[in-house]
Amino acid sequence: MQNTTRIDPADIARQRDFCAQIRERNAALPAPPLAFVDTYGCQQNEADSERIRGFLSEMGYGFTKEEAQADVIVINTCAIREHAEQRVLGNVGALVHEKKAHPGQILCLCGCMVQEPHNVEKLRQSFRHVDLVFGPHALWRFPELLWRVLTRRGRIFDTPDEAGSIAEGLPVRREGTVKAWVSIMYGCNNFCSYCIVPYVRGRERSRRPEDILSEVRELSQAGYRDITLLGQNVNSYGKDLGLPGVDFAWLLEQVNAVPGDFLIRFMTSHPKDASERLFDTMAACEKVAPHLHLPFQAGNDRVLRAMHRGYTREHYLELIRSLRARIPDIVLTSDVIVGFPGETTEEFEDTLKVLEEVEFDALFTFIYSPRKGTPAAELPDPLSKEEKAANFQRLVDLQNAISARKQAAYVGKTMRCLVDVLSEDPRHNLNARTAGGRLVHFSGDEALLGQFVDLKITDASTWALFGELA
Ligand code: SAH
Ligand code: SF4
Ligand code: F3S
Repeated sequence: MQNTTRIDPADIARQRDFCAQIRERNAALPAPPLAFVDTYGCQQNEADSERIRGFLSEMGYGFTKEEAQADVIVINTCAIREHAEQRVLGNVGALVHEKKAHPGQILCLCGCMVQEPHNVEKLRQSFRHVDLVFGPHALWRFPELLWRVLTRRGRIFDTPDEAGSIAEGLPVRREGTVKAWVSIMYGCNNFCSYCIVPYVRGRERSRRPEDILSEVRELSQAGYRDITLLGQNVNSYGKDLGLPGVDFAWLLEQVNAVPGDFLIRFMTSHPKDASERLFDTMAACEKVAPHLHLPFQAGNDRVLRAMHRGYTREHYLELIRSLRARIPDIVLTSDVIVGFPGETTEEFEDTLKVLEEVEFDALFTFIYSPRKGTPAAELPDPLSKEEKAANFQRLVDLQNAISARKQAAYVGKTMRCLVDVLSEDPRHNLNARTAGGRLVHFSGDEALLGQFVDLKITDASTWALFGELA
């Protein structure tokens, strides 16, 4: 059991004093200054951005989505694949011009990318218009860091390499009124050989059950109807707490017992730690959505070993059978990587076989991207880009056919759905989700936002369902 550092509430209070000081400064301006927070990457980053907006709101900033209007820009970055990093660097580079037009503008970069030393170096040398750089471990100190930028006008870098801590009691400004993220743990201990997350997010650490449950209670009381519990591997929740009986299945039961009409979702589960006990709990808890996102990454045992995933293809398939025996209509989604170093086309075909056997409802497919500092980046990688792209296309085509078939099977059914966002598409003004998480477009009164409704499914595409009020 590790000793997780918990930030002293007095230190958080000090940060909120910095918020108050900045607020005072901002109040003296002719109009409230504006902030723009741009988020890349996963839901964990979305959740972090909600904390950053919480701080900014407490500092008296209003919000804009126009970079040109913003007095403070915060870019919360992702390092998972090279493409994500390049998008960030491209956009940050282009901001030089905004800044010239808006001299007092403050540009901040945070998130996973700035926890990689080579990126920090690049920002120092070549992106001199960036004022503040802070890693995920320093997020709770954002008010103090921004105060220093505002009062000294020097550049600040705060990217300590540490195992990570837990900071409770940060203000939060959520994006929606229906769906909410609740982080239950941070970091990752798995060190899959291709993945950068453990290096940039630190070691696995769980929030205390009482902190999680009081957040869920507040959300339920505030009318949130869809609560997603977040962690890189939620199935290892509690291992670091040393509290007898406390694990993820137990936590699900506790969250399920919180009063209110809401759905519980969770992301992400790791197959090596998914258990029958978890599946039994999912089946028994009426609020837990009938959906499991269970990334399998590859269908070949040699490749899975090289990825350091800790399970075999047969174990994965056994998990799916065991889950379906308990929850026959479970919606299944997964992540797959194509072109891991040394994966032959024959080995890749084992991934296709898993698709055929499981028939996922949807799949998130990625071409392997080497990450500096990870073991896989050092492996020989003989397969050409073209061969990888061809394999990727075969994977996408197969999954699209499966998704289309599964989606079509909804047509004619009536499903209880949660209306979760207003849509900008003129053909249907509302978006809803089935309990299993499938997207449904339909038209209706905007007052239905946040309500559960019965929708009759009238049409389907690979990605979405179309329905009408039943
Ligand atoms: N903790 C989650 C995954 C987080 S990253 C889990 O273990 O399931 C989301 C997905 O990005 C991963 O599931 C994987 O499919 C993909 N991914 C991670 N590193 C990658 C890399 N270097 N190249 C390509 N895809 C990657
Ligand atoms: Fe990355 Fe593996 Fe951890 Fe997921 S479990 S975040 S893929 S190291
Ligand atoms: Fe990206 Fe960091 Fe999430 S690398 S996927 S934002 S944990």
